[in-house]
Amino acid sequence: MASGLILENVWHPLGDDVFGKISFALHNFSDDVLTDFKLVYTCLTRTVESPICTNATYLRRVANFHELSTPADFSLKQGETWRFEVEGFLRAAVHRTDGAKSAYVTTADGKHIPASVGDLLLDGYEASKVPPLLAEGHLERPFYMQPWPANAELVPAKTCPPIISATESASTEERAAMLTINQLQQRLFPEAQDAFTATPVSGARLLRFSKTQAQQPSGYQLTFNEADVLLEYNDKAGLNYGLTTIAQLHHGAKLDAAKFSFPAVGIIKDEPRYSWRGCHLDVSRQFYPKDDIKRILDILAWLKMNVFHWHLNDDESWRLEVKAYPELTEIGATRSPDGPLLPQLGNGAEPASGHYTHDDVREIVSHGAKLCVDILPEIDLPGHCTATLAAIQELSDGQEAPDSYRSVQGYPNNAINPAMEETYIFLDKLFDELVSLFPFRYIHVGGDEVSENAWLHSPRARALMEREGLKNTFDLQAYFLKRVQDMLHQRGKRLAGWEEVSLGTGVSREDTLLFPWQAPEVGINLAEQGYDVVMAPGQAYYLDMAQSDDWYEPGASWAGTVPPEHTYTYEPEGDFPEELRPRMKGVQACIWCEHFLTRAYFNRLVFPRLCAIAEAGWTPKENKSWQRFSALAPYTPKL
Ligand code: ACM
Repeated sequence: MASGLILENVWHPLGDDVFGKISFALHNFSDDVLTDFKLVYTCLTRTVESPICTNATYLRRVANFHELSTPADFSLKQGETWRFEVEGFLRAAVHRTDGAKSAYVTTADGKHIPASVGDLLLDGYEASKVPPLLAEGHLERPFYMQPWPANAELVPAKTCPPIISATESASTEERAAMLTINQLQQRLFPEAQDAFTATPVSGARLLRFSKTQAQQPSGYQLTFNEADVLLEYNDKAGLNYGLTTIAQLHHGAKLDAAKFSFPAVGIIKDEPRYSWRGCHLDVSRQFYPKDDIKRILDILAWLKMNVFHWHLNDDESWRLEVKAYPELTEIGATRSPDGPLLPQLGNGAEPASGHYTHDDVREIVSHGAKLCVDILPEIDLPGHCTATLAAIQELSDGQEAPDSYRSVQGYPNNAINPAMEETYIFLDKLFDELVSLFPFRYIHVGGDEVSENAWLHSPRARALMEREGLKNTFDLQAYFLKRVQDMLHQRGKRLAGWEEVSLGTGVSREDTLLFPWQAPEVGINLAEQGYDVVMAPGQAYYLDMAQSDDWYEPGASWAGTVPPEHTYTYEPEGDFPEELRPRMKGVQACIWCEHFLTRAYFNRLVFPRLCAIAEAGWTPKENKSWQRFSALAPYTPKL
């Protein structure tokens, strides 16, 4: 809603220790005179506890929510500007997205008026040449396939068949799979010509099928002859992947005959390099409705990725309907100026809300199943639980000193308490519902970023430590996660979690899958401890990281700058000793959404790096080519 209020902000670097200051200008282009009001802005460059404010009074900060007031007896008439400065930050701003993401004004009578915000500008910016995201690109072979297969010996045809049709002998499963991939292509490329028909028509290229143990699970072989194509496969995934490859070859040739051909004759022998080719999405910081999730599953399937890791809660919100605890979504799925959960990360004067019902989940799980994409639900525990605790206070110790620890994102006392019996009653009911909704063998329980002094001011936690001989927070966390693991095992599920699950004494290694994220070498360390791992290092696979150092390149920076070429060429098992390689199950893209305020922004950062990770998961190292990748990546469908 346009209100006529506009907040501009500029970063002024001030050196290593103090980082810098931000000068703000709030312009009033509305018809109203504003007097003695408060201003809220959300910003990932957070202030210290008591920042220095010039021409404004600092009132409070809750994570990324910052609230200030005007000087006394202040008024802002039409056409006037309130200028003020804030100095004292926890880190430096390094990209234009590090400034105010949203703002609003609260008047003396409690009304909230939105203000629009622009980029954080840099005082003294010196333009540099920003490198392109992709190379010029070069196709040695005229075929569109993403990811590139393990082996392809193909001779291009002069013309592309209009359509590929099943033979009369195709099974119901095979014909259904053809039409599933047809529908997938129709959803992703609504203007494209269909690749398949289950009803033979004259002029079509015939597709014969052979289900055979000679192929690996998920593997397939395509033999192209002048008369027909033979698809050999072992299982449903191999069938889908073989069909997806044919659909892509057909799609490319129909889209741009100057660049791409359909094969006349030749063979593709293909199977994935890794069994786990995942993509994580944080729907807590920003909400993605059901139809967006289904489209993301479509894109993953097109790229032959097979796990969607659904990060369903965080400090900022809880997104999954839980029938036993309706308050989780009644309270925990909305951020608003009059909160319990305050606006964060781009929210303004209007409440922001969203959650998934059980019916939504069932629809998403079934959509994934058709496309061979498993859904890994994550409930982030015991940290990152501000929204959970706003809904269910009984999961914390009422005697714990308030604000006795803070998370790295600035949330006070945000971990559910392992010494409260209510915590396990809650998890019992929650896991029952999760198990009824999600058929995948793993449940991800987070485990990341619990503050190292969490619970130390909780008398209940202290008593538990005494009783169990636990020395510190991470021993407590391990005690908690072992109980969680037992609860999952009782329900036939395996535990997945972030790397910190291994802290303290960790959990049972058996069937446990951990995701190293803070640095590539953590993966080796976890494998040495006996854990299976999926590599998700921020330095290569966090798709919220900025893609160049330039100030105007949007994105986060804690893991450095992550250009697409680095994501593409990074070797996830690079330094793994031979004997530990079997513990490395695959790769995962992580889409964290603190910065992802718009769909355009999502697409700008997720692509082409998601395709690079898809290829890391599928294509043998010796078959990778940055030039070929650069030529093909622009054809990827986007959200
Ligand atoms: C994480 O990035 N906190 C797993």
